[in-house]
Amino acid sequence: MSRNRLDDRSTRHDRFHQKAKKEGFLARAVYKLQELDEKFALFKPGQRVLDLGCAPGSWLQYARSRVGDRGMLVGLDRGPLRGDVAGARIVVGDVLTIDVKELLGELPAFDVVLSDMAPDTSGVRSLDQARSEALFERALEIATGVLAPGGNFAGKLFQGPDFKKLIEAVRSRFDQAKSAKPASSRQISIEQYVIGKGFRK
Ligand SMILES: C[S@@+](CC[C@H](N)C(=O)[O-])C[C@H]1O[C@@H](n2cnc3c(N)ncnc32)[C@H](O)[C@@H]1O
Repeated sequence: MSRNRLDDRSTRHDRFHQKAKKEGFLARAVYKLQELDEKFALFKPGQRVLDLGCAPGSWLQYARSRVGDRGMLVGLDRGPLRGDVAGARIVVGDVLTIDVKELLGELPAFDVVLSDMAPDTSGVRSLDQARSEALFERALEIATGVLAPGGNFAGKLFQGPDFKKLIEAVRSRFDQAKSAKPASSRQISIEQYVIGKGFRK
């Protein structure tokens, strides 16, 4: 077996993967959101949360544990989720083409907008960064359209030449903007999470 295949298998089955399986979470990504929440206090009980790129659904599971039964979750992804996840309303669509406002209809404003969206990677770093930036910018655009004043945003972004500019874009709409790379994010990954706290309408 080649070294690369060995690496693939060991990263797929790392300790966060095993932990998620044991604890009943649908993906190891749950520990990234948990860490961001512990650091930036993203949620409160009873809140309304929109999760962009929500499949397979571990962030929805975590968000439910934080907002409780009185909270409301909406998840959006290109692909359908398997079964009901955490009592969330699921919307299937591509964020780059759908009219989110039309789809969400008369729903009240959200308190938290999350995006863990990642592009299909090509292996060409500059192309993958550009695609990730487009998803991040779209997530931020949606967030500024649907967040209630004071709301929070957390979005994934592959770190590239426009990283600082995009943090500034978050800072221009939120009281605080920060970036973080959770410990459960793989070392080799160039992903970062950009947090906006306190949306200014
Ligand atoms: C890393 S996964 C998200 C994992 C999720 N946070 C969880 O905890 O289960 C990234 C997701 O983004 C979705 N995605 C990527 N591009 C998208 C797009 N243009 N529109 C909607 N979803 C997209 C993918 O289908 C994929 O399910």
